Amino acid sequence: MTSLRFLTGITTSGTPHLGNYVGSIRPSVQASLRADVESFYFLADYHALIKTDEPARVQRSTLEIAASWLAAGLNPDRVTFYRQSDIPEIPELTWLLTCVTGKGVLNRAHAYKASVDKNLAAGQDPDSDVTAGLFMYPVLMGADILMFNAHKVPVGRDQVQHIEMARDMGNSFNHRYGQHFVLPEAVIDDAVALLPGVDGRKMSKSYDNHIPMFAPREQLQKSIAGIVTDSRAPGVPKETEGSALFQIYQAFASEAETLTLRQAYADGIAWGDAKQILFERVDREIAPMREAYLGYINNPAKVEAILLAGAAKARATSQPFMTRLRHAVGLRPLGEQASAKTAETAKSAKAALPTFKQYRESDGQFYFKLVDSGARLLLQSPGFANPKDAAASMARLRELGVLAWSTAHSNWPAPSDVASADIQAALLQLAEGH
Ligand code: TRP
Repeated sequence: MTSLRFLTGITTSGTPHLGNYVGSIRPSVQASLRADVESFYFLADYHALIKTDEPARVQRSTLEIAASWLAAGLNPDRVTFYRQSDIPEIPELTWLLTCVTGKGVLNRAHAYKASVDKNLAAGQDPDSDVTAGLFMYPVLMGADILMFNAHKVPVGRDQVQHIEMARDMGNSFNHRYGQHFVLPEAVIDDAVALLPGVDGRKMSKSYDNHIPMFAPREQLQKSIAGIVTDSRAPGVPKETEGSALFQIYQAFASEAETLTLRQAYADGIAWGDAKQILFERVDREIAPMREAYLGYINNPAKVEAILLAGAAKARATSQPFMTRLRHAVGLRPLGEQASAKTAETAKSAKAALPTFKQYRESDGQFYFKLVDSGARLLLQSPGFANPKDAAASMARLRELGVLAWSTAHSNWPAPSDVASADIQAALLQLAEGH
């Protein structure tokens, strides 16, 4: 079956907070339940080394984030759930991508530029205290994504530039060495994108305004009591606009519940009462997971085993893919007659090339399909109003192959018995043969 690959990671440098839960953990667990989606979730512990030099913190955070994901309902049998540093192909791919990435592109990365600007403003050397790790952050992230040929990457708005850079790296590599990478796209869910912290700014560990996801009940209540409000007295109508308390409530409540609180604001609810309502609502969602979370935290060996099993599953993809990539760039056995062999395969492939067939249906629309040499249906186009559009779409597939397919195929009717790998292989064959 053709399916869309989703991939996302969380850097293991802190304790998961409600912003991580609402913005990343909850939507990714929901997406992982969709039948048409193949999900990859990982703990970005190599990235953590860029942010912290406390080994105990990296280890603890890895356990806490893994436990949070599992407690929130991520089923490791349905998805590929792993720790970045268990996949040695990722740093290996990082190097291959480093060699096709312009240094100037990395100069323009937001996080690096922010550090440079800060140094300049302070009259310091522009690269003062900037590690090469921070500079290379986007390349490591590109390798995370391209390694598994992910189509969609759910991230916060602040990460969109990184996904665009990953696209560029994939594109440059494909251009030089043939089509190997799917070009990924960022997915931003506007409904959940940003949760404010207790001070109203984006909830973030670095602003120290976060509410921990699995704090004990009493501590959760205390954190919520700390949310900044205006000084309007009980009985005075309150604004929902710009109210962090209201926005956090909205991220947890149903539409009807949200409407009720909106009315309570208009009726002048006391801030203390509004905070109590928020606390009860958040706790209602979190409490059932809290027990599961503690179960994992108190049994790190169990989490370790789950992650190692996930790594084995991930490496079943990354190892053979890395072999292919090494070969593509010329890191290959000396005895191998590379060019002769490629020409040979191309020749025999040409004899049995997949073909496009165009036709018109009784609905008056124009269609085409891709069939393999054995006449098996691989890909079926949607209907086009005129033959020119159908031909243009076909030409795009023929020339760009996997790239065109990965960006256009998601809403195409998929033959259920065909593996997406077969379609990719056929398109690759066509692109090479033509
Ligand atoms: N940089 C991401 C963050 O800080 C974490 C991350 C690392 C990631 N590699 C990734 C996210 C690959 C998506 C895909 O939020």
